[in-house]
Amino acid sequence: MNGTAKAGLALVAAALLAGAGWWMQRTAAPVRVALQPDDLHVLAVGERVYIAHCASCHGAQLEGQPDWRTPGADGRLPAPPHDASGHTWHHPDEVLFNLTKYGVGKVANIPDYNTAMPAYEGKLADDEIVAVLSWIKSRWPAAVRAKHDQINRQASP
Ligand code: HEC
Repeated sequence: MNGTAKAGLALVAAALLAGAGWWMQRTAAPVRVALQPDDLHVLAVGERVYIAHCASCHGAQLEGQPDWRTPGADGRLPAPPHDASGHTWHHPDEVLFNLTKYGVGKVANIPDYNTAMPAYEGKLADDEIVAVLSWIKSRWPAAVRAKHDQINRQASP
């Protein structure tokens, strides 16, 4: 990856961290989002949603697209993995929910951000979004799940 692409990635990562706080203050969810990776009913819904809506880009095994850190000729990043090798688990529940519902540009506060990641507002119900993210979390190894629990506690003590 060239220097410009790297700088762009770092910018988005920083904006995601800074913007997420701003976004959540402005749009406090009426109900706190909490993933339920141990609820078998939720996981059944989540797996169905994942196969229908996410697997085409993020991969049937959550492996993402090849060379996912390098933007393509169109300037867009490939879909990252949702397994332990990606950075999905670096984000607390509410950030994952908002990324999926409202899209990356809105959460990062970069309205014209050029991304292939759709926003699922109006396409998936809130509980379907919670279910699919819960299913993704259920697939992480125990150590990664524990780290993610810790990230959640730090995000909203
Ligand atoms: C058309 C391809 C595509 C589909 C379909 C898709 N995604 Fe994505 N997704 C992406 C791309 C590309 C990114 C990287 C965002 C960027 O451009 O910075 C991404 C990023 C994400 C992220 C942020 C990950 C991180 O580490 O920051 C989450 C969460 C996510 N997707 C969840 C989902 C879920 C849940 C679904 C299904 C409901 C889904 N995506 C469907 C392409 C897709």
